[in-house]
Amino acid sequence: MAEAERPERIYLGPHDLLAGRTLLPITVGGHQLLLVQDGERIVAAERACPHEGADLGLGRCVGGRLHCPRHLASFDLCDGSVSPGWSFCALRLFEIESASDGLWLRT
Ligand code: FES
Repeated sequence: MAEAERPERIYLGPHDLLAGRTLLPITVGGHQLLLVQDGERIVAAERACPHEGADLGLGRCVGGRLHCPRHLASFDLCDGSVSPGWSFCALRLFEIESASDGLWLRT
């Protein structure tokens, strides 16, 4: 694979970056994102709810879903899809790579 075809990755920090927290707001390249610990998995999501922009960092993660604190829609952490009954766009998710030297965000 040519260098230009490789996905970009950005170093986030050590494996214990979340330090026991479920949600951790981060800023990457000027973008407000949210790291979410979902069981053994860590996912990154846009921090603003795609409905009306509520801070999802004030929400909660339960059973593989991220719940918005404002209107209580929830998002599937596998594909970002919103819970039934809502018609706005999916939550944008980003893959986190756990490498030997820490956590990387794939862009
Ligand atoms: S702002 Fe998140 S569901 Fe409305």
